[in-house]
Amino acid sequence: MIIGVDYYPEHWDKSLWKADADLMRESGVKIVRLAEFAWCRLEPQEGNFDFGWLDEIIGILSERDIKIVLCTPTNCPPMWFYEKYPDAVQTEKDGRKTNTGIRGHRCINNADFLRYAERIIDTMTKRYADNKAIIAWQIDNELEANFCFCETCIGKYRSWLKARYTTVEAVNKAYGNNMWSGEYSSWEQIKPPFGSYPDAWLNPSYMLDYNRYASDSVVEHINWQQELIRKNCPDTAITTNVWFCRNMPNFYDEFKKLDFISYDNYPTTRLPDNSEECYSHAFHLDLMRGVKRKGFWVMEQLSGGLGCWAPMGRTPSPGMIKGYSLQAFAHGADTVVHFRWRTAVSGAEMHWHGLIDHSNVPGRRFKEFSELCKEAAALEAVRNTEIRSDIAILYSPDDEYAFKIQPQTNGMYYMEQHFLLHSAFAKYGLNIDVISRLEDISRYKIVIAPQMYLTDEAVTKRLYEFTENGGTVVLTNRSGVKDENNKCIMEQLPTVYRKLVGAYVEEYDPIGYDTSSIRLTDGSIYKCRQWCDILCPETAETIAVYDEEFYKGKAAITRNSCGRGTAYYIGTVCEKKLYCKLAKDILLESGIPFVEGLPDNVEFTTRTGDGIIARFIFNNTSKNQHFTLDKEEISLAPFEMKIDIIGG
Ligand code: GAL
Repeated sequence: MIIGVDYYPEHWDKSLWKADADLMRESGVKIVRLAEFAWCRLEPQEGNFDFGWLDEIIGILSERDIKIVLCTPTNCPPMWFYEKYPDAVQTEKDGRKTNTGIRGHRCINNADFLRYAERIIDTMTKRYADNKAIIAWQIDNELEANFCFCETCIGKYRSWLKARYTTVEAVNKAYGNNMWSGEYSSWEQIKPPFGSYPDAWLNPSYMLDYNRYASDSVVEHINWQQELIRKNCPDTAITTNVWFCRNMPNFYDEFKKLDFISYDNYPTTRLPDNSEECYSHAFHLDLMRGVKRKGFWVMEQLSGGLGCWAPMGRTPSPGMIKGYSLQAFAHGADTVVHFRWRTAVSGAEMHWHGLIDHSNVPGRRFKEFSELCKEAAALEAVRNTEIRSDIAILYSPDDEYAFKIQPQTNGMYYMEQHFLLHSAFAKYGLNIDVISRLEDISRYKIVIAPQMYLTDEAVTKRLYEFTENGGTVVLTNRSGVKDENNKCIMEQLPTVYRKLVGAYVEEYDPIGYDTSSIRLTDGSIYKCRQWCDILCPETAETIAVYDEEFYKGKAAITRNSCGRGTAYYIGTVCEKKLYCKLAKDILLESGIPFVEGLPDNVEFTTRTGDGIIARFIFNNTSKNQHFTLDKEEISLAPFEMKIDIIGG
């Protein structure tokens, strides 16, 4: 396993470079990422390139056997560029130009930007094409879906719509535009969601498509950069780094033409007081592994206390620097690159702490990082192992957009039930894949399909087939609600899944921040919140009923036999222990072996290869944990990871 750091030589006096590189080598750093924001130093004046400093630092690092990830610096064009082409700055929702001096504010569809970006990418990739130290290219930095509202982008958006619908009449039909006299009679009338009105006043069908366009627009840019890089560096791997941002692109589309996934991983440094909150990044890591269904990189990993856009938060407590990186390995990362080597002394991010503080005196966190480098090196044997799983959770970027557009009820967001179900099954020491709902699911035994909100014929068909062939599927509230255009379906919920579930929703009660309760057939009572689907079983049996409200006694959770398999439907959002109980029942039925006895938030996963199994047991809590697992007594300090390699 490989550990790296994000390094910004352009931020530091040259006199520090060699000492930094020496310390990197001494501690065991194997990879350094460079230059994603360095355009103004690489092309200080138009057409005058200065690669001298980059050559020098690449030389210094490679002399010490450190490999490089080079970035295209397109996130921040220099000020001289904006002075000459003020239109290349993004246009905001209110029609105003974004301020220069921040980052990521260039319009990725602007012709001048693209011309200059092409020139610097071409110059850079030609220059370093034969440099064996460069092992990968990163495209830009944390590219978000394109929400620029300039004339060029409006044109792009209309072309996207034309390609999808051909006529405005088809757009009107798809969106149901006869509401509020919203029917278009020409393409020119279609505009992006401008203005100060909350987006919630706009048609959700239109908003969903706008999000899809915004994602496709950035994917087009990524693919364009990817082709430019490959032209000069056909054998070097290419990636881009992503995070879970508000304007999230569709990860599956984003990485289609790239070689590997990179994820920026900043788990919390302050564990929540509320034990019902799922804070583990295990879900995110599993989702990243699922994008290409193979090992991935963390391109930025938590290294210190975080601040800048928000007030500073807690510094990572002892164990977190090492534990959170090892957790990423345990979930399929091959390489973890820490952000950043040293904390910046200037700029908006000066309080987003790196491994070394402003003082440049390596301290507690750095010591822990050095230990991590040693432990990671000892895990080399595990590198070519894979994570095998009988359980998949389905994720859909479109559903996530649709939930952001219409949050359904107070406190509800798309991923919460994903997190809850993930952590419930993880409690039994099982690997879990998080995959696109468009994937083939036939290899799994259990498929968890929370909030299948927008319907898709092929996905529905696969779920029926999977269940009929003996699989177990778990569906939840807010499934089958919309067609693919985000319009409600005129049938009783869960519409297309009604037969699979063997029950229908008679009425629902979005209880939001209120709480209610359900009662299982054994008499046990569990709290529930957010949403209550009042179920009417047809062929299904009732597992739990509501214990309060006017629907007391009506079904809340059902179980239906469908072909050789089983479909569960959870109509409400419950406290964690209910999901754990349900997960255990489902595992017993499915015959999947599992372990019991893991304390809450102690995570157990495995990586398997030819004749080798690595077991990772991670105490993702701030308390000492003592427990027995398969007759073995285990004690773990806060954030400690126990790794056992069997065979090999
Ligand atoms: C990431 C970004 C980095 C840095 C870091 C800390 O989102 O890619 O460049 O800004 O956050 O703020």
